[in-house]
Amino acid sequence: MLEITLPEKIIKGVISGKKDKNQKNEKVKIETILIKDKPILQFATYTDKQVFHKNVEESEAKDLIISFLNDEFNNLELTTEEYIYSYRVTQKGKVLSNKRRAKEVSLVPISHNKKKNYILEDGTLVPALVDLGIQMPDGKVTKAGYDKFKQINRFLEIIDDCIKEEKHLNIIDFGCGKSYLTFILYYYFVEIKKMDVNITGLDLKEDVIDHCNEIADKYGYSKLKFYKGDIAKYRKRTILI
Ligand SMILES: C[S@@+](CC[C@H](N)C(=O)[O-])C[C@H]1O[C@@H](n2cnc3c(N)ncnc32)[C@H](O)[C@@H]1O
Repeated sequence: MLEITLPEKIIKGVISGKKDKNQKNEKVKIETILIKDKPILQFATYTDKQVFHKNVEESEAKDLIISFLNDEFNNLELTTEEYIYSYRVTQKGKVLSNKRRAKEVSLVPISHNKKKNYILEDGTLVPALVDLGIQMPDGKVTKAGYDKFKQINRFLEIIDDCIKEEKHLNIIDFGCGKSYLTFILYYYFVEIKKMDVNITGLDLKEDVIDHCNEIADKYGYSKLKFYKGDIAKYRKRTILI
C-alpha cells in the first residue's frame, strides 16, 4: 500500500497517468457534490467510451483514491479551498508531492479591484442559503456549495447591471428548480436594495415547489411565492426581466 497523506475538504480532483497503456480506465475525476444536504465525493471514472459514477462518503474517499494510485494511475491532483495538491507515484513506488496556492478558489479576492465584483461575500449570511446547503449557519460557504455560490455572485452582478431607477418589480422565474437564484434575487432586492418586489417561481416539480414555499414561509418572505405549473400555460400578466 502507498504511503500518502491526503488533505481534508477536497473540492475536486483528477487521477490520471495510466500505469498500463492497455488498461480500460483513462482517468478519474473527483467532485464534491451535495446529496440531501450532505457532502459526498463523486468519482467519475472515464473509459474511452463511457463514464461510470460512484458516490462515496468523505471517510471512504481517501482509501478509494489510494487504491486507484496503487493499481491504475500515477498522478493525482486535489483542490481544496486553499491549495492544489499534486502527487506522482514514481516507478519505485514512492510518492512525490507538492502544493501550490489555489488562486481561483478564494471567494473573497485579495485585490481591492476584484473585491467590488462580489456582491455577496463569503460570511454574509443569507438564511435561505443555509436551507439550500450553500452556507453554514455562520454564513460560511460550504465546500459543496462553493460553485453555486460563485454562480450566485455572477448572477447578482448581471442583475445589478440591469437595475437602474426601479422602485418596484414583478419578477417571474420560469423553471425555478431548487430556486437558489430566486431566493438570492429576493434577498438582493429586499434586503440589499430595499426595493418592493413580488417574485414568483414556477416549476413542474411539486416536491421542489413545496420545499421552496416552506423555506419562503420560514423566513417570512411574503412576496415570494412558488407554484407548480407548466411555463406554456402561464397566463398571469407579469413584467419579465
Ligand atoms: C436546470 S433547472 C434550472 C433551475 C434554476 N432555474 C437554476 O437556474 O438553477 C430547469 C428547471 O426547469 C423546469 N422545467 C422544465 N420545463 C418546464 C416547464 N415546461 N414548465 C415549468 N418548469 C419547467 C424543470 O423542472 C427544472 O427544475
